[in-house]
Amino acid sequence: MDPKEATKEQNLTRDQENTQFSSRDRAVESATESVMTVENLNMYYGSFKALQDVSMVVKRNMVTALIGPSGCGKSTFIRSLNRMHEIVPGARVEGKVLLDDEDIYASDVDPVRVRRKVGMVFQKPNPFPRMSIYDNVVAGIKLGRKRKKSEMDEIVEKTLTQAALWDEVKDKLKDGGTALSGGQQQRLCIARTLAVEPEVILMDEPASALDPVSTQKIEDAMEELKKRYSVVIVTHNMQQAARISDYTGFFYIEHMGDPGRLWEFDDTTKMFSAPDRKETEDYVTGRFG
Ligand SMILES: Nc1ncnc2c1ncn2[C@@H]1O[C@H](COP(=O)(O)OP(=O)(O)OP(=O)(O)O)[C@@H](O)[C@H]1O
Ligand SMILES: [Mg+2]
Repeated sequence: MDPKEATKEQNLTRDQENTQFSSRDRAVESATESVMTVENLNMYYGSFKALQDVSMVVKRNMVTALIGPSGCGKSTFIRSLNRMHEIVPGARVEGKVLLDDEDIYASDVDPVRVRRKVGMVFQKPNPFPRMSIYDNVVAGIKLGRKRKKSEMDEIVEKTLTQAALWDEVKDKLKDGGTALSGGQQQRLCIARTLAVEPEVILMDEPASALDPVSTQKIEDAMEELKKRYSVVIVTHNMQQAARISDYTGFFYIEHMGDPGRLWEFDDTTKMFSAPDRKETEDYVTGRFG
């Protein structure tokens, strides 16, 4: 990634973490309720239409996997869920994206507030350089109200535990975040995202650059995460999608040059055993893509 883009991402990550820690326990809320609703979304890069007419719900305390061949708009779509595409010049959205019934694209909505509620973990781990593991985790919340050291310690332990990293780093919290392995850095970034207690966590191929052990740890963390958060994850790994998600959306382009569409969306079990559409079946069984 170009260093300018990396800095932009880091600033955005900082923005999304600049918030108050809320003690609200979301796990008590209904498991079948929708946290986000997307209605008739079109997305463009300049005059190029990348996505057409996508409607989908994100269920609370569930994991939603997004799958599909390369170039069919999965990253484009996931970025629309927290207005992250706005850092791409010329990118624009038509349609509605509701978070808890509020349209995140309404003119009076602050994108920074949206990104606090809808956090994002990127494909490439991006811990803040020259910052300790501890400081990386609390980077966002430090910008909010002043907290006692004991409260910060608690947040660090809790989020690193949720991200399945605590045992590996508890004795070296003062070490630099970038001194960790790639897989550990990614889990650190997950902890950093969790520290500000978003409602939704977006992950765009978070494990694609990781070794199998780290990938397994991230998958383990997912079970824990969905008790408190709603997760949307893009993955090219079909076994991973089948293992960790409750719902699956398949994005597909029928004819070259067409925009991507959400071809099928359903319970993961159904999508992987008896999908309605042939293309979905071909894709999940590895016949193409
Ligand atoms: N910044 C951009 N500017 C212009 N076009 C873009 C940009 N980002 C993506 N696109 C185009 O939008 C379409 C969808 O791309 P996107 O990255 O969302 O696909 P994807 O499903 O995430 O693919 P992959 O699985 O390879 O990550 C592609 O045709 C791509 O070339
Ligand atoms: Mg992508």
